[in-house]
Amino acid sequence: MSAQGEQKRLTTKAIQARKGGERIVCLTAYTTPIARLLDPHCDLLLVGDSVGMVLYGMETTVAVTLDMMIAHGRAVRRGVAHACVIVDLPFGSYQESKEQAFRNAARIMQETGCDGVKLEGGQEMAETVAFLTARGIPVCGHVGLMPQMVNTAGGFRALGHTDEEAARIRGDAVAIAEAGAFALVVEGTVEPVAREITAAITIPTIGIGASAACDGQILVSDDMFGLFSEFQPRFVKRFANLGPLIADAARSYADDVRAGRFPAKEHTFQPRRQ
Ligand code: KIV
Repeated sequence: MSAQGEQKRLTTKAIQARKGGERIVCLTAYTTPIARLLDPHCDLLLVGDSVGMVLYGMETTVAVTLDMMIAHGRAVRRGVAHACVIVDLPFGSYQESKEQAFRNAARIMQETGCDGVKLEGGQEMAETVAFLTARGIPVCGHVGLMPQMVNTAGGFRALGHTDEEAARIRGDAVAIAEAGAFALVVEGTVEPVAREITAAITIPTIGIGASAACDGQILVSDDMFGLFSEFQPRFVKRFANLGPLIADAARSYADDVRAGRFPAKEHTFQPRRQ
């Protein structure tokens, strides 16, 4: 327990110290009730900008705003007593300059109470990562497939198939690790490259579509609950299929309302006896 009587949560330093040790379990979360359910089982909860696609029906993460990330970051932080909470810097909130990145990352830290931020990018973002970490903001990097780059990358696809791609991802990973990031998300990257990166850098790699060679794993929680879409990418394992359960519950509710079975007596307020 801390001085405030709050249970101690995992720090970014504790996550970093897990390099090569016990695998790091991570999921995304966007709301308080889901964060409460995931927290006891996870080491790290990421308030990912995937929130734009998962909860808001956006086609990509590009239109997600800083205010959205802060609102969801605050909601998740309220539901967490154990895990380290990291919030994504959204597209356009950090690429312009290291000063812009610091200003927006500091706002996220102050207004959500999270433990650090995540940003996408490789060698071109290394200076920014060093600037933030030197000023008290723990940073998780994100290399390989970078969803915020969808418009220049020309779509979402696994990377590292060519020598050129593999060399670029390796260079990106090393640059972000050497800049002082505490961990690195490696997304959509072929196994040999993910394995090589994991061996080459001194911070933990957290894979999503990047094989079991990584030090930890993350999935978009709605994907693995079967809530997001019919399309299931190869790297997602559905640990539950909640979509049909919710649809069934809605159908039963509609049937009961239409048949006059709901609300029943036990759901109905009656005047108190005087
Ligand atoms: O936004 C997100 O959910 C992410 C994960 C896919 C790592 O960045």
